[in-house]
Amino acid sequence: DENKIKNTMGCGKSSAAGAATPSGKPSVVFVLGGPGSGKGTQCAKIVDEFKYAHLSTGDLLREESKKGGELGDKLKKTMEAGELVSSAMLVELLKKAMKDRGWEKSKFLLDGFPRNQENIDEWEKQIGKEADIKFILHIDVSKDVMKERLLKRGEESGRADDNEETILKRFETFEKESLPIIQFYEKKKLVRKVDSSKPVDEVYAEV
Ligand code: ADP
Ligand code: C5P
Ligand code: MG
Repeated sequence: DENKIKNTMGCGKSSAAGAATPSGKPSVVFVLGGPGSGKGTQCAKIVDEFKYAHLSTGDLLREESKKGGELGDKLKKTMEAGELVSSAMLVELLKKAMKDRGWEKSKFLLDGFPRNQENIDEWEKQIGKEADIKFILHIDVSKDVMKERLLKRGEESGRADDNEETILKRFETFEKESLPIIQFYEKKKLVRKVDSSKPVDEVYAEV
């Protein structure tokens, strides 16, 4: 497994995120962090200032689930349970979204991905060396703050998973499946962690 993760990082650690990829491959920053930590908020600010395409896998899944049908219903149920959807379909969606935005020479912020080992394996299978992963941006804040933010967001988001019961399940999933992924990348010195407990603009200054 260690090698599998390592293989997704086929890039020079020293290259700047903003630099064009000489290979013409898209360059990718994975934006990770717990639910409600502020990933989407910070990505939006990065996009305002820099030429990145922002893709939130959660947003892609919500869009897909709205289409209904068997797949849509299944996605909806999984998301309402605070669990992770199957990776093959998710990475297919993600790759298609990346292609739609323009594949070559693009810079992507992939928000909320990868969330577990299966996500990484599937990335490797479907994308692998076709993209250069630059680093992982970890938006970090305590569970108490995340919960407060999610409950507040839930007042207006219309998201079926921004309720207390699902929030707790999402935290469980995050701790069990996603934190180990961040910790692994940390050991590889590929994580740039930002304290997200401060006001949005202060967090962004650090980002
Ligand atoms: P994520 O994409 O990680 O789930 P969001 O960016 O949607 O998180 O943020 C969750 C909620 O918290 C949103 O309502 C957002 O406006 C709010 N929020 C994000 N960052 C901050 C911050 N630094 N301080 C206060 N509220 C924030
Ligand atoms: O990132 P976001 O909080 O928008 O994700 C919402 C939900 O989408 C997650 O709780 C999970 O059910 C699903 N998801 C997933 N796999 C990902 C990203 C999101 O299953 N990589
Ligand atoms: Mg988000």
